[in-house]
Amino acid sequence: MRKETSIHGQWSSKLAFVLAATGSAVGLGNIWRFPYITGENGGGAFVLVYLMCILLIGLPVMIGEILLGRRGRQSPINTMTSLSHEEGLSRAWSLIGWLGVAAAFMILSFYSVIAGWSLSYVFRTAGGVFTGLDVDGVRGVFEGLVSDPERLLAWHTVFMVMNVLVVARGVRSGLEQAVKFLMPALLGLLLVLVIYAVSIGHFAEGMRFLFAPDFGKINGEVVLMAMGQAFFTLSLGMGAIMIYGSYLSSRASIMRTSATVVSADTLVAVLAGVAIFPIVFASGLQPDEGPGLIFVTLPMAFSGMPGGVIFGTLFFILLVMAAWTSSISLMEPAVAWLVENRDMERVKASVLVGLVAWILGIGTVLSFNLWSSPIGFHLDLGGEEPVFIGGTIFSMMDYLTSNVLLPLGGLFIALFVGWRMTRRSVQDELGVGMGLLFQGWYLVLRFLAPVGILLVFLNAVNLI
Ligand code: TRP
Repeated sequence: MRKETSIHGQWSSKLAFVLAATGSAVGLGNIWRFPYITGENGGGAFVLVYLMCILLIGLPVMIGEILLGRRGRQSPINTMTSLSHEEGLSRAWSLIGWLGVAAAFMILSFYSVIAGWSLSYVFRTAGGVFTGLDVDGVRGVFEGLVSDPERLLAWHTVFMVMNVLVVARGVRSGLEQAVKFLMPALLGLLLVLVIYAVSIGHFAEGMRFLFAPDFGKINGEVVLMAMGQAFFTLSLGMGAIMIYGSYLSSRASIMRTSATVVSADTLVAVLAGVAIFPIVFASGLQPDEGPGLIFVTLPMAFSGMPGGVIFGTLFFILLVMAAWTSSISLMEPAVAWLVENRDMERVKASVLVGLVAWILGIGTVLSFNLWSSPIGFHLDLGGEEPVFIGGTIFSMMDYLTSNVLLPLGGLFIALFVGWRMTRRSVQDELGVGMGLLFQGWYLVLRFLAPVGILLVFLNAVNLI
């Protein structure tokens, strides 16, 4: 018998799911990670590859991941176990769920620290700390923050507690209302920033950096980063979207909702880029500033515009909220599993997951100060020079999750849905016939997406 609902509840409507999934997708990945990774990887050509990955890998895999969740109606681990059983396949497919939970803890651990930076910026901006500062002054404030482990730890703690509070009550309550107001407000403030960016004189330069592809800047590593960013920004490949799908009503159209979520997410990322790069050039900064990019450029913008204290404070509040609606989706799969398999109460499970991620997060806290020198080794992969494998704890967790674990999860999802489930089950869950849309999606999911992911992997390690 097909389950109509999950034991953890169900979204109140299709709109609620779209809002929750958009809330998960839109977050630090769009506003913090997208600009800084784009800046580090040379701009236009990276953005083009990123957009292609969104369309050709992200969207089809998202449809597959939601479909699995809705069919299984449990935590990703148990969903994969029961779907494999149902389709007469090996239990090993539950590895998708386990990989996902491991990735979730790692992402959550650094995500919370960066969200903590954003939290602290709410108060700094409101307090007028940036007013009248030049770029060195603004960078000084950022460096002052990240070089202070105790302060970072305090903000990381505050943010993690915020997450536990929401997840303990169930991701449904409140989320809908929050996202409904958050998304339009975030878009509005991004537009304010874009208008400001147009007004300061380096707009064309910013746009050229962001959109004029210089293919000389592309190599296997850049393509891998672009694919990783596509997975990260769409919350794909680790079960977050799967578990949100498990709370979706059987009647909603998975294809249509996925397209909406992907469009909204891409719009926010591109707008963030359009706003930030002109400010980068106008302030005399380099695009490859690194993880601090928006924490230096945005205060510059707000200190230069009329009403900057108010706009700036609002912006960082919205950024924190966007991060919040994302990170709760990182906790949900593990919490649901603890509730299902360990018979744990939701509150206890949330505290436990939050605590583990909080402890792991200390590694990221220290990555910007006491442990900021990279650790690792050199490996000769037959390229021009040996590659350095390693970095700070933060950079390693970030790299491993976005560029390896999430695409790997996506690959397995594509293979499972495309090759191991019967086409009849897939069509039954999607509620579609053999229309052109289905055939197009099925083809891309079976061939293009998995082959694409594999090629990007192999290319990045110089094997092809
Ligand atoms: N997509 C979110 C962002 O862009 C982060 C996120 C939430 C995430 N859930 C995830 C990333 C699951 C990977 C997997 O900020």
